[in-house]
Amino acid sequence: MVLYFTGTGNSRYVAREIARRIGDKLISINYLIKRGGREKLVSKTQPFTIICPTYAWRIPRVVDEFIRTAIFPGSNKAYFILTCGADTLNAINYVETLCRNKGWELQGFAEIVMPDNYIAVYPAPDKITARETIQKADSSIRQVAEYINDGSEFSIYTAGGFGGRIKSGIVNGLFYKLFVCAKGFYVTEKCTGCGKCSELCSLNNIKVSNIPKWGARCTCCMACIGGCPEAAIEYKNKTQGKKRYYFDLAE
Ligand SMILES: Cc1cc2nc3c(=O)[nH]c(=O)nc-3n(C[C@H](O)[C@H](O)[C@H](O)COP(=O)(O)O)c2cc1C
Ligand code: SF4
Ligand code: SF4
Repeated sequence: MVLYFTGTGNSRYVAREIARRIGDKLISINYLIKRGGREKLVSKTQPFTIICPTYAWRIPRVVDEFIRTAIFPGSNKAYFILTCGADTLNAINYVETLCRNKGWELQGFAEIVMPDNYIAVYPAPDKITARETIQKADSSIRQVAEYINDGSEFSIYTAGGFGGRIKSGIVNGLFYKLFVCAKGFYVTEKCTGCGKCSELCSLNNIKVSNIPKWGARCTCCMACIGGCPEAAIEYKNKTQGKKRYYFDLAE
């Protein structure tokens, strides 16, 4: 079973490709979270493959929480594939702990560099650069899928050393305290009230009546701001005039 969480489509693309190549079922964690309820996910024959973005050098808290609370009968093996804009550093250590607590053997961990979607901080890549990055990612996807098909163990990531321990550790904690909140989002007059941002928000954090209003439960996934068809959403004073990023738009 291939389970993915995505903000702006990169991890969905990687998950689809891997599921297709290994002939396994594809399940959206976004959908399961949006729908609510306690999940029981059974994979009798193949290991669980979890694919998600990297947030502050770790798997997103929302994914960590989902995995901790869902029930996974069947296989006791898991693969973790993290898409990222640059590197995952010490994320693997936290994934190992999560797997231990879940009673899973971590069979393989890989980071796959995709276009960076964090436009609240960085510029979005232009289309040509995004396409080149995706093309490079395609060969990593093929390799990872081959390893999974062969049942091989793998560990593909940029090791972080002392700096990596700090970034995946203390800095990750500070990131959630200081930066993860929906307070900075607002709409401009370009908003048509179409409701797409609300549909895209897995945490049901956006209500649209004429214009969107953000609640307090945000994971900073960039789906709303990246997926708005009118580019009508801004974040504080960080995104004015910047390109938006959403995977389908990079195709
Ligand atoms: C809140 C946030 C934090 C991020 N932190 C990192 C990071 O620590 N390292 C990194 O390489 N990329 C980071 N990124 C970039 C994303 O991990 C990357 O673009 C990913 O492929 C997005 O996947 P998605 O389209 O499936 O949401 C971050 C993006 C966001 C929105
Ligand atoms: S997706 Fe964009 S245009 Fe549509 S309601 Fe949300 S902000 Fe407005
Ligand atoms: S409000 Fe926007 S950034 Fe926050 S979780 Fe929802 S879609 Fe993601």
